[in-house]
Amino acid sequence: MRAEQRRRRALGRALAAPGNRTSADVRDWWREAVCYQVYLRSFADGNGDGVGDLTGLYQRLPYLAGLGVDALWINPWFPSPMVDGGYDVSDYRAIDPAFGTLSDALAMIEEIHALGLRILIDIVPNHTSSQHPWFHEALAGGPDCVERDRYIFRPGTGPKGDAPPNNWRSVFGGSAWTRIVEPDGRAGSWYLHLFAPEQPDLNWDSCLVRREFESILRFWFDLGVDGIRIDVAHAMIKAPGLPDLGPSDIELIASAAHPGHPHWDREGVHEIFRGWRAVADSYPEPRVFVAEACVGASERLARYVRPGELHTAFNFDYLTAPWRADTLRIAIDSSLSAMAAVGAPAIWALSNHDVLRHLTRYGRPQSDGPVHTLANHSPDGPVDLALGTRRAQTAALLMLALPGCAYLYQGEELGLWEVEDLPDETLQDPTWERSGHTDRGRDGCRLPMPWSGDAPPFGFSPDHAQKVPWLPQPPQWKQLTVQAQTGDEQSMLELYRRALRIRRVHPALGDGSLAWDTTAVPDVLSFTRPPGFQCVVNLGQGAARLPDHREVLLSSVPLEDGLLPGDSAVWLAR
Ligand code: GLC
Repeated sequence: MRAEQRRRRALGRALAAPGNRTSADVRDWWREAVCYQVYLRSFADGNGDGVGDLTGLYQRLPYLAGLGVDALWINPWFPSPMVDGGYDVSDYRAIDPAFGTLSDALAMIEEIHALGLRILIDIVPNHTSSQHPWFHEALAGGPDCVERDRYIFRPGTGPKGDAPPNNWRSVFGGSAWTRIVEPDGRAGSWYLHLFAPEQPDLNWDSCLVRREFESILRFWFDLGVDGIRIDVAHAMIKAPGLPDLGPSDIELIASAAHPGHPHWDREGVHEIFRGWRAVADSYPEPRVFVAEACVGASERLARYVRPGELHTAFNFDYLTAPWRADTLRIAIDSSLSAMAAVGAPAIWALSNHDVLRHLTRYGRPQSDGPVHTLANHSPDGPVDLALGTRRAQTAALLMLALPGCAYLYQGEELGLWEVEDLPDETLQDPTWERSGHTDRGRDGCRLPMPWSGDAPPFGFSPDHAQKVPWLPQPPQWKQLTVQAQTGDEQSMLELYRRALRIRRVHPALGDGSLAWDTTAVPDVLSFTRPPGFQCVVNLGQGAARLPDHREVLLSSVPLEDGLLPGDSAVWLAR
């Protein structure tokens, strides 16, 4: 173990060699980091039970450091009944036994730092698990107990109280209310859950809830965690009186594009986040937040990252933009200008654990408006995987050249696609059951990583594994393992490695600004970044001419007679 640790530290030092900017040295690392999202259950299984864990991740940290990312965001790792992949937390200060122990987590944090990386974890403040001690106390204490004030309990409507308090809908399907049985056996009041019934919403009007979460933040910051992703940050405050949704609100169930919505993007969330910022700022080294706030317009999003509030927020307009030069440019411009107005960096991502993998999205005919990123809305018809792969390579170079931070979702560097034909009996996302088997949910983007070998589990689990992986991998992923792609210069993995290497050393990349090249033809996105960098992306069919340049730094596919082929991108030194 000692020798292994020494080897890893040496790798950390090598990456930190002069000329290589690493996040470890840069105070404002969070303004320009490339952050790799680790979906822990599917990253690497160290103990052979078919589920990814901290041991598996620890063993693979050199892979991530070598890939060239700056930080890791780890999806919830807390004890959880796993009704919603860990977003149903029963203890915010411990680690789920399926993933490891708190001391494993501490060793992990130390190792991540030794490698020159940062670590962000994922806090779920809108709801707990129904197995959280607070919810047990609220149920056991009876109708008038103070413990119920931590959640949102209301009497039912209708003569017998057997209709829900209002018409709010669960994001996973069905009513957002569930009726409880009181300790004396009678049918009782109802509690709110914007997600699954096993995820009761907390009452953020309660001082106790507020104090508890500030203490949870401190607990993890004290252990060395550098940042926190805030789950459904736009949902925590509900309108007084819990008024019914209007007709337009119902249509917008999963997004918050409608001002005045009774439970999305309410003004009151900002006060909570100002308090959280004060907690983060009480540490000498940066402790940062990234919000998952699905709010319609960039200007609404910018309100979450105003001075004194959160540091960063995901930009979902970019993620849902179709593969078209005009819509991508609008998404880029609106995010850059809205963020610049409040002094925050933009955050770009193409995929995450909730949406259809972008390779698959881009492999289908592109629409004019926002792309449906959820499995249930994805258009029918075959996916052209070769086209999707080519566009995903191009998209990587575009995203990594934009000013700000980029979030990579595990497996995108391997060119993994959405697995849309998982057998019904393997599906685990609550959406599948809650929708009456009409919505297949998000399992297709959450499959275990293929590391090596010719057949599943592709090195995801150790050789002596007792169980098969929790979701079955397609045999075709044989060509996409880390082992198969390493050293293959045409592969997605080597493209990501080269791009991240350049991004780390090139002074133009990361934080900063861009200037569009106004001479570019309509299907081409072309911009310069000082000093001396230009990115050209050809989203059209025909080849495009390149602007004057000194050197080609990197291209997503080989240039053809000095021209940039359709669906490809190039980084130039000017
Ligand atoms: C967020 C998470 C998603 C989860 C939901 C409820 O959107 O990303 O995975 O199901 O919140 O916590």
